[in-house]
Amino acid sequence: MGSVAIVTGAGTGLGRCLAISLAADKNCLVLVGRRAQRLDATRVECVEAGAAPDDVLAVPADLSDPGSAARVVAAARDRFGGVDMLVNNAAVATFGPLESTGVDTFVRLFTTNVAGPAALIRQAAPLLRSAGGVVVNVGSIGGLLAVPDRSFYGATKAALHHLTRSLARELAPEIRVNAVLPGAIDTEMYEDLGLDENATRRLREEMIRTTPLGRMGRPEDVVPWIRMLLGPAGSWMTGTLLVVDGGRSC
Ligand SMILES: NC(=O)c1ccc[n+]([C@@H]2O[C@H](COP(=O)([O-])OP(=O)(O)OC[C@H]3O[C@@H](n4cnc5c(N)ncnc54)[C@H](OP(=O)(O)O)[C@@H]3O)[C@@H](O)[C@H]2O)c1
Repeated sequence: MGSVAIVTGAGTGLGRCLAISLAADKNCLVLVGRRAQRLDATRVECVEAGAAPDDVLAVPADLSDPGSAARVVAAARDRFGGVDMLVNNAAVATFGPLESTGVDTFVRLFTTNVAGPAALIRQAAPLLRSAGGVVVNVGSIGGLLAVPDRSFYGATKAALHHLTRSLARELAPEIRVNAVLPGAIDTEMYEDLGLDENATRRLREEMIRTTPLGRMGRPEDVVPWIRMLLGPAGSWMTGTLLVVDGGRSC
């Protein structure tokens, strides 16, 4: 049996691409997200990529619900006996000015983007410790850059970066904790920002214009760096915030 990886947000975008890549290398996978249908579609793609059908488990869960983390980790333990890798990739983003954004939005973003990953790390820690395991959190250069109208999302990612560095020290030497910070990646996230069609188009244009390498990223541009941190090449790395952004934050 390969290593056991929990991947959140595995039904779409970056998480889907990562899950398929891990499946191709015969890892056992626990796919997490709210939409069961999207997870099932990824599950099929993982099997097509080479995973045995019994080695890919879809666990629909809303990670903003405090009880979900225990359920996800229990499902991984019951099916595969442990957890070697945890990738906290699921997140929500909403853009908008402070004065027209409700505090409930901030709470929703913080619960999903920070408390969700923290709860999963907490629940998985005993299994990760006995496996000599690894956590990769998917942050964002949005947590480094100060951008008007994006403060809530940026603040949750900055908090996730801090959590990464603090837990890297707290959980060492048994568990490594790192983060990958993507720049603009062309995924469904751009359709879910709460912007109208024109604003979304303008945002995509802005992302291309402000990225020195001249295009938005693709999930395939980021996944190898997550894999690097999960694998032997990352064995002496913890507390690292690895920027993969086409130069946008430099
Ligand atoms: N796209 C970018 O430009 C960009 C840039 C920097 C960083 N990132 C980060 O990259 C990661 C992946 O995003 P993406 O671009 O691939 O966007 P995406 O396709 O929208 O992926 C987000 C995933 O998170 C899941 N999710 C959201 N809320 C959840 C919840 N409460 N419980 C469980 N799952 C939840 C979604 O699935 P369900 O809706 O089915 O739950 C979805 O699969 C995120 O952490 C994002 O912040 C993206």
